[in-house]
Amino acid sequence: MEEKNCRSRGTWTTRIGFIFAAAGSAVGLGNMWKFPYVTGIYGGGAFVLIYLLSVIMIGFPIMVAEFMIGRNTQLSPVGAFTKLGKNRLWKFAGWLGVLSGFIILSYYSVVGGWILDYVIRSVFNQFQNCSVRQIEKMFEVLLESPLRQVGCHAFFIFFVVYVVSGGIARGIERWNKILMPTLFGILLLLLINSLLSPGAREGIKFLFNPDFSKITPSAILVAMGQAFFSLSLGMGAMITYGSYINQDTNIVNSAAEVCFLDTLVALVGGLVIFPIVFSCGLPPSAGPGLFFKTLPVVFSRLPWGSLIAFFFFILVTFAALTSAISLFEVVVSYVIDEKGWNRKKSSYFMGIIIFLVGVPSALSFNLIKNIEIIGKRNVFDSLDFIATNYFLPIGGLLIALFCGWSLSEKVSKDEIRKGGNNLFFYYLWRYIVRYIAPVAVTLVFIQKTGLISF
Ligand code: PHE
Repeated sequence: MEEKNCRSRGTWTTRIGFIFAAAGSAVGLGNMWKFPYVTGIYGGGAFVLIYLLSVIMIGFPIMVAEFMIGRNTQLSPVGAFTKLGKNRLWKFAGWLGVLSGFIILSYYSVVGGWILDYVIRSVFNQFQNCSVRQIEKMFEVLLESPLRQVGCHAFFIFFVVYVVSGGIARGIERWNKILMPTLFGILLLLLINSLLSPGAREGIKFLFNPDFSKITPSAILVAMGQAFFSLSLGMGAMITYGSYINQDTNIVNSAAEVCFLDTLVALVGGLVIFPIVFSCGLPPSAGPGLFFKTLPVVFSRLPWGSLIAFFFFILVTFAALTSAISLFEVVVSYVIDEKGWNRKKSSYFMGIIIFLVGVPSALSFNLIKNIEIIGKRNVFDSLDFIATNYFLPIGGLLIALFCGWSLSEKVSKDEIRKGGNNLFFYYLWRYIVRYIAPVAVTLVFIQKTGLISF
């Protein structure tokens, strides 16, 4: 490493910068907020197992595919598909990605707003000496308040628009190198605290002891969707980052590192939260509020709790922001290319629209909480359900098919060999994107319809 570092310092720094940028997109609310709560709803260990399988078998090869398309075309997703695709229909995959980014950001920003609300609460020392019940109530009060939620949502989206409109997203990515390891450091502190709590044993068992009777068609669909969501796959975010990759970077290793980091943070997030859940006697299936009802309990008891809470929520805001930037960049670069508008106009215009589209999600816990769209899901949950579990996997399926069947073999072989991989990797990857990943995604969809069962 030392030797390599000296010989090609430029490349090495760029590579680390790139890994952090891609990991900055991947690590976000999906890891700390969403992974624990969906795991809680779908029963723990067995869900985690399917999640891990999806990351390795489907997520990882598709991430390689996205990096490949990005580096090869140096274009935004719609442009990339237009340039490489022999058939004009491939453009559809690009559009679907833009639509997914648009929808996901609209409600992601609502959750980002909740985090901002918690930053402010920690400034005012509001968690100090609170009981578990009081902390639960705090979150419920936030959900019941339409104005506060819409206000926080507006603030969060404003930050995102501000960064993307100035074209300074890559500057922000540089902060990642300091802030992400700091966040991980605080998470490790919280982890030690959780592992010493009375609910530790039960929490660990819940996460890692699979109860196969809990595997339902929906659990399989949601676990796969969560893998796409958490790894930022299926909508072109990683195609965009791929376009910054240096020519001699090994995209297979890079994808493996990003998948590993992202999964590590999700698992640590779960290991922090579930012991608290069991120590406090909360239901693991508490839903989207799980993160907000559990962590402040720890902060209320720790010495310097408010200060740690403040840093923690600020760092989570930052993690959420870097993910939101990558969602927004896909939408904005599309508008810039399609409409020919400048970056500023495109960002502010789309930012306002996404804010407005997100308002019903913010209101779906109070003013319009009785409106159900898909099954018993409110607006917020329905948008998440459709975009995460259908749009992203369909986008990923198209990306896999594109790389496996449409892209010329010469292009894909060159891309994989650039970093020094041997042909064995290439053939393995190609086999997966041609057959395994598309068949697996399709089977997950079909089993959900009830036509087949395992
Ligand atoms: N991966 C991000 C997270 O976990 C969310 C995201 C999804 C970002 C899709 C970009 C694309 O928070």
